[in-house]
Amino acid sequence: MKKLTKRSWAEPYKMKMVELLKMTTRPQRVKAIKEAGFNTFLLKSDDVYIDLLTDSGTSAMSDRQWAGMMMGDESYAGSRNFYHLESAIQKYYGYKYIIPAHQGRGAENILSKILIKKGDVIPGNMYFTTTRLHQELAGGKFVDIIIDEAHDPNNEFPFKGNVDLEKLDKIVKKYGAKKIPYISIATNVNMAGGQPISMKNLKDLRAYTKKLGIRIIHDMTRVAENAYFIQQREKGYQTKTIKEIVFEICSYTDGATMSAKKDALVNIGGFMATNEWDVYEEARNLVVVYEGLHTYGGLAGRDMEAMAIGIEESVNDHHQRARVGQVEYLGHKMEEYGIPIVKPIGGHGIFVDAKAFLPHLTQDEFPAQALAAELFIDSGVRTMERGIVSAGRKANGENYYPKLELVRFTIPRRVYTQAHMDVIAESTAAVYARRDKIKGLKMIYEPKYLRFFQARFGQL
Ligand code: F0G
Repeated sequence: MKKLTKRSWAEPYKMKMVELLKMTTRPQRVKAIKEAGFNTFLLKSDDVYIDLLTDSGTSAMSDRQWAGMMMGDESYAGSRNFYHLESAIQKYYGYKYIIPAHQGRGAENILSKILIKKGDVIPGNMYFTTTRLHQELAGGKFVDIIIDEAHDPNNEFPFKGNVDLEKLDKIVKKYGAKKIPYISIATNVNMAGGQPISMKNLKDLRAYTKKLGIRIIHDMTRVAENAYFIQQREKGYQTKTIKEIVFEICSYTDGATMSAKKDALVNIGGFMATNEWDVYEEARNLVVVYEGLHTYGGLAGRDMEAMAIGIEESVNDHHQRARVGQVEYLGHKMEEYGIPIVKPIGGHGIFVDAKAFLPHLTQDEFPAQALAAELFIDSGVRTMERGIVSAGRKANGENYYPKLELVRFTIPRRVYTQAHMDVIAESTAAVYARRDKIKGLKMIYEPKYLRFFQARFGQL
C-alpha cells in the first residue's frame, strides 16, 4: 500500500465547455512546418495539437467574464465598463490614472513617446522585445541592469528578476540622472524565464531612485505570478495574500504598462497607468491618435468588462497556486527525463536550454528555432524560440548574441490538463533521445522589426 506523503493541489474550477482539437499525423506536421518556413509563428493553429506558443491572449475566461461580455456598454464615450475597469485597477493595483489600450504594446508606444527624449537611457531588468523597440523608436537606448544570475540557466537564485543596483549606479554616474526618464521594471521577467523580482530589491530600488528623482515604470504583465513567488519564497510574506503583495509591488512604482492578455485573463486588452497628472494628460492626448478615445483605447466595452473581472480573479490565491503549480508539474516531469531547463522553474512556462539540448549547433545555426520545429514535428506541440532570433539586431545591424538560447513552453491559463502536461514532457523526452540527429537552420527571410514573428528558415 502506498503511504500518503503529500496532499495535491487541483484547479479551483471545473469545465463547462470544451474546444475540440484536430489530431494530425507526422507527415502532415512535416509538411506544415516546411510551409511555415520552420517558424512556429507561421503555422496555422488548426495544425497544432497543444499550443504553447504563448500565454498571451490564450487563457480561458471564466463564466463570470463571459457574463460580463454580455454586459458590454458599446457607447463611443464614457462606457460604464471603462469605469469598472478604472475602479478595478485603482482597487487592486493602486494606480491613480489609467488609459486603456488594445494590448501591452499600444500602452508602451504611448508611454515611451511621452517620457523618452532622443538620447535618453532606459535601464531595465532585462529587455522585452516590444518594450525595448518602443523605447528605441522614441529615441532611447535600453541598458540591461538585471543581476548576472539571470543570464545563467542553471543558477537557482530565487529572485533572478532582481536589479543589480551597482550596475544601475554605474549607468547613472555615466549618463547622469537627467538622461534617465525612468527605470523599466518587469515583474516575473519574461525573457529570463518567468523569474520574479523580490520585494526587498524593489524597495531598495525605490529608495535609490527617490533620491535622484527617477521614476520606476512597471511592466506588470505578470505581476500576480511574481506575487505568488514572493509569497512562497520571501521572508515575511508567507502570511500575506497575493492581493496584498500585488498592491505593495505597485506602490513602489510610479506608473505601469500592462498586457492584460496574460495575468488578467483576457483574450485582448491592456492599459497604461500613472500617478502623475501631467503624464496622464499627455497620454489622453496621444491615445486618441493611436488607439481610440481615452475611455476605450481600442477596446470594445465588453473587453474592458472582461478585463475588470479578470484582474479580480487573477489576484486570487487559489488561482495562482494552481496556475504556477501546473507549470511546476511540467517542469519537474522534464527534469525527471534529464531535459535541461531554466531553473528555478518560472511562472508562465518552462524554458528549455537549447544550447545544452543541442550542443553540436552553434548559435548562428538557430538551435532554439530548430528545436521548436522538431518538437512540433514530433507531437504537434507548438513552442517558441527565445534566443538569437528573438534578440534581433542592434542599431548598427549586428546581431545580438543573447546568453540565453531558449525554447519557451508557455502555458495558457486554465486551458490544458495534467494529461496534456504529460504528453508535452514525453514528446520533449523523445526528441531529447534523438537530439544528435537534429540539424541547424539558416535564415532565408528576415523582416525589419521583431523578426522572430515572421522570419523564414530552411534546413542546413
Ligand atoms: N511586456 C511583456 C513582459 C510581455 O510579455 C509582452 C507580451 C508585452 C509587454 C507586450 O504585450 O503582446 O499585449 O502587446 N508578450 C507576449 C509573449 C507576446 O508571448 O510573451 P502585448
